[in-house]
Amino acid sequence: MKNSLPMPTPDPPSTRKKPQGRSLADCIAPVSTELGKVRDFIASQLDTPYEEMNRVLAHILQGRGKMLRPALVLLSGRAVGELTDLHIELAAIIEMIHTASLLHDDVIDEAATRRGKPTTNVLHGNEAAVLMGDFLLSRVFGVGIRCKDLEILRVLSEAACRLCQGELLQNIHRDSGCVSREIYFEIVRGKTAALFSAACRLGALAAGGQEAVVEAMAEYGLHLGIAFQITDDLLDLLGSENVAGKTLGADLAQHKVTLPMIHLFEGLSPEEADSVRSELFDAEQRNRLLMRLKQNGSIAYAQEQARTCCDLAVDALRCLPSDALGQPLRHIASALVMRHR
Ligand code: IPE
Ligand code: IPE
Ligand code: MG
Ligand code: MG
Ligand code: MG
Repeated sequence: MKNSLPMPTPDPPSTRKKPQGRSLADCIAPVSTELGKVRDFIASQLDTPYEEMNRVLAHILQGRGKMLRPALVLLSGRAVGELTDLHIELAAIIEMIHTASLLHDDVIDEAATRRGKPTTNVLHGNEAAVLMGDFLLSRVFGVGIRCKDLEILRVLSEAACRLCQGELLQNIHRDSGCVSREIYFEIVRGKTAALFSAACRLGALAAGGQEAVVEAMAEYGLHLGIAFQITDDLLDLLGSENVAGKTLGADLAQHKVTLPMIHLFEGLSPEEADSVRSELFDAEQRNRLLMRLKQNGSIAYAQEQARTCCDLAVDALRCLPSDALGQPLRHIASALVMRHR
């Protein structure tokens, strides 16, 4: 797998640090049985009369993502009340919207690898990938209608709309050399955090949560989603493609500026900013830029921002009647900033 990013030299085995705390996979293990049902449900929705199409869909289904968003539907539901079959369907809908967004995103970002496998756009072309994403979304309509609940449909349509707006906003500001911190957070809230928030809101709603609790769970999801994307943007700069299972380095390659870069620019004089801008999107200068980001504290700054968002997410859980109910969600917030994939 191609990886042109400079990686830190690994510690010799004897001194290598053991990963601390729970991984995201550990955190979602309490709902692994339900996540199996979610996967089966999604597979049942992606069957067509056309053999060639089913082959492409099978490839998409084989790619195992982290299933974080459907796990959030389930864990939010469990934090608030009882899980029902509706939670399985809602979790499936959220994962299908997410997977559709990845199919489209990989076309936009010209990505070659996703979930440890070649992307649909690489295997079958951009047109097939876009149409497959559309097909998934058409199945989302079908499953959504079966819920017969206008509030659920409103939440889903709002989240899907915000996701598209976030991706569009990012696309509009592409190539601009720098975006403001306000625009960056607006992009992130839209393209990523809105779906996280909807996942948590729907889990709580379907468990019969009171309005204040449902709102608090949505707030938890929103902050968590922002932290997730800041961390993803850091992985894009510093991570390993083998571990992440997806194409990295795409943000700079696609001329998309993320939080560490914004922090760097904020501390530069106009002359210095011009000089850095000239090396920003130049693949040859990538190592220099990464060094500059590290030395300037811009990587540490973005990590700190992600941690702050996780703290805000955890604060929102105070509305739950007991600490024990929010514990799995608190664990996710802690694991999220430590993740490598
Ligand atoms: C990738 O999300 C898209 C982003 C919002 C950064 P995930 O990292 O959750 O992707 P999968 O589902 O595990 O593949
Ligand atoms: C995309 O963000 C978020 C989506 C809405 C799909 P990225 O472009 O950073 O996601 P990855 O890194 O390709 O997973
Ligand atoms: Mg991408
Ligand atoms: Mg993208
Ligand atoms: Mg990314």
